[in-house]
Amino acid sequence: MIHPVIMAGGTGSRLWPMSRQLNPKQFLKLANGPLSMLQATVARLEGMDAANPLLICNEEHRFLAAEQMRQSGHEDTRIILEPCGRNTAPAIALAALQLSESVENGADDPLMLVLAADHLIKDVTAFQEGVKKAIPLAREGKLVTFGIVPHHPETGYGYIHRGTELGPDSYAVDKFVEKPDQATANSYLDSGEYLWNSGMFLFGARRYLEELEAYRPDILTACRAAIADTADDLHFTRVNAQRFAECPSESVDYAVMEKTGKAAVVALDAGWSDIGSWSALWAVSDKDPNGNSLTGDVITHQTSNTLVRADSRLVATVGVDNLVVIETKDALLVAHKDSVQDVKTVVEQIKNDG
Ligand code: GDD
Ligand code: MG
Repeated sequence: MIHPVIMAGGTGSRLWPMSRQLNPKQFLKLANGPLSMLQATVARLEGMDAANPLLICNEEHRFLAAEQMRQSGHEDTRIILEPCGRNTAPAIALAALQLSESVENGADDPLMLVLAADHLIKDVTAFQEGVKKAIPLAREGKLVTFGIVPHHPETGYGYIHRGTELGPDSYAVDKFVEKPDQATANSYLDSGEYLWNSGMFLFGARRYLEELEAYRPDILTACRAAIADTADDLHFTRVNAQRFAECPSESVDYAVMEKTGKAAVVALDAGWSDIGSWSALWAVSDKDPNGNSLTGDVITHQTSNTLVRADSRLVATVGVDNLVVIETKDALLVAHKDSVQDVKTVVEQIKNDG
């Protein structure tokens, strides 16, 4: 049996103004019909030999998270609440500490399937098959990452160069490469030897903690202290705020995966995408013959390759191409589709002015 751990503590600031501090993207219905990104992540596990998922998110979102899990039929799911965001390495450490303590001494290392709550995966069967391929490797003590088979030379993701073959679609990791430039991304795609770093993992809880101890003992020490001093109420585990505030902020990629010699990668071709920005959402949406993705009360004339979401009013576009128009009750975003990575600067400005 595997233990799904869902990380849902991100801010999703590039999806402003729909994604807000009190209602960030993982809780929004963006690309999965009636399901939020979080609920789609849970639904993707159906039929697997998996425990009730463990959720880890910001304290501020506890009721939203609990309510969405209840709607998904997981009312008794445990939710670890972070008083502040410290990125994914500490979040996974808290979950690993909680899980390793919940199994008896001498029992097998519990395998955690670490998932992000902001991914879209169109082929659920291929995803589940990929997880099955990763299980024997994780049992051997490997830290398995899922590498996405690239179909275009994306510059917005990290890449993994695969090494020796270890099994079906499974390889040792030769090296991780940070977001490459366009020419490098083209050559990676042509070589067929590179995969996108998906940010999903399968590894033993104790194995993760051992590797964290080897490479970032400061993070482990802070997380141990923070979770030793928790207050549990209902299904919530509240991490000690003072202790956790002392924890350094770092992603699991930097803290562990890029340093460990025990990394393996399972190649996954499952229609995966990270809905990180409005252009990414446009790319995976159903579009009209002019390449427009339209949601809500929208009228277009001579409009192409444009994403429009109208939440509370009629929105009309005339004579425009390659735009993003996001209308909500109290804010409106108009952006060029090639500049949507910079939407987060608006959020920073609002915070600074606030
Ligand atoms: N609990 C918790 N606490 N969750 C967090 C935190 C935190 O402090 N920070 C981020 N998360 C969650 C987010 O909600 C998301 O589900 C997931 O962890 C990944 O965080 P993102 O902020 O979305 O990371 P990213 O997309 O920029 O980068 C990661 O994913 C890429 C692919 O989607 C990295 O792993 C990249 O290497 C990777 O290519
Ligand atoms: Mg992401």
